[in-house]
Amino acid sequence: MEEELLRLKNEATASLDSLNKKEELDTFRVQYLGRKGQFTTLMRQLGGVSPEDRPRLGKLANTIKQDVEKAFAEKQAALFGVASAGKPVDDLTLVGRRIPAGRLHPVTQIMDEVCTIFERLGFEVAEGPDVELDFYNFEALNIPQHHPARDMHDTFYISDNVLLRTHTSPMQIRAMKTRKPPLRMIAPGKVYRCDSDITHTPMFHQVEGFLVDKKVSFGDLKGILSVFVAQMFDKDVAIRFRPSFFPFTEPSAEVDIACVMCGGEGCRVCKQTGWLEILGAGLIDPEVFRMVEYDPDEYSGFAFGLGVERIAMLKYGINDIRLYYENDLRFLEQF
Ligand code: PHE
Repeated sequence: MEEELLRLKNEATASLDSLNKKEELDTFRVQYLGRKGQFTTLMRQLGGVSPEDRPRLGKLANTIKQDVEKAFAEKQAALFGVASAGKPVDDLTLVGRRIPAGRLHPVTQIMDEVCTIFERLGFEVAEGPDVELDFYNFEALNIPQHHPARDMHDTFYISDNVLLRTHTSPMQIRAMKTRKPPLRMIAPGKVYRCDSDITHTPMFHQVEGFLVDKKVSFGDLKGILSVFVAQMFDKDVAIRFRPSFFPFTEPSAEVDIACVMCGGEGCRVCKQTGWLEILGAGLIDPEVFRMVEYDPDEYSGFAFGLGVERIAMLKYGINDIRLYYENDLRFLEQF
């Protein structure tokens, strides 16, 4: 019996050593370790051994079988290229590999959110070309050639007459030239300026909004923007209008909200003022109406333009605009 066991051990070990295909593993397992395998058959014979020898031989048989099982597992691991010896390689209880899920870029998310808020207020969404004519981007918006107001925008020119739009305001002209009032529209999109630092990127996103009808007042503008700010920042944030200048609006204003970081107390983000600028706005200049052949005595309207990256920075507390465009997953996965 003892001899038989040792012989079987040597045979199994040798056969395991020479084995080098995954398919041969199964044959080996059935032949030696299975329920009808040689070890099982031999161990059944322990019943016929004398009672004095039985414990010793039983122990020996078990040790040998365990050694062979261990060697088998190691071989299996080696052939499957897995280092976890002693564990079955096809472990069906192992969790699967997670397929990374994509998500919307924070800028897209904010842009969608802005559009949804205004759509609920009855505005329709329109998009226009990134490559724009001088006429729509400047001329018709009361920014004639050689006018110093052109300096407000560092423009990428394609030719004398063609450029990358520096704002979404040309959409006001495109809409008004083809449609009759009343109009309530928003126009989201990319805009381009030759500028780059921690608060500027050469391409960024704006949402333009405008409303044209009879008897539209500055009060209407203020009302709509207050509703927007409250919905965007999920609470009753204070808002203020500061007099400003845009060639295509009169009067013009820049709109601030109470600093979302400190609640108006004064902090580093708001430069101790308690306020953060979020958009430019105003009543559409009669000169612009004349350009699109609307009668400024009959119609009035307001317009505003907001920077999407800026809103997202305030909403999520992001301190460097360039993070949006580095495509670092550690950043993007937070949204
Ligand atoms: N177009 C302006 C800009 O980009 C913003 C603006 C839009 C201001 C509409 C007033 C009205 O700076």
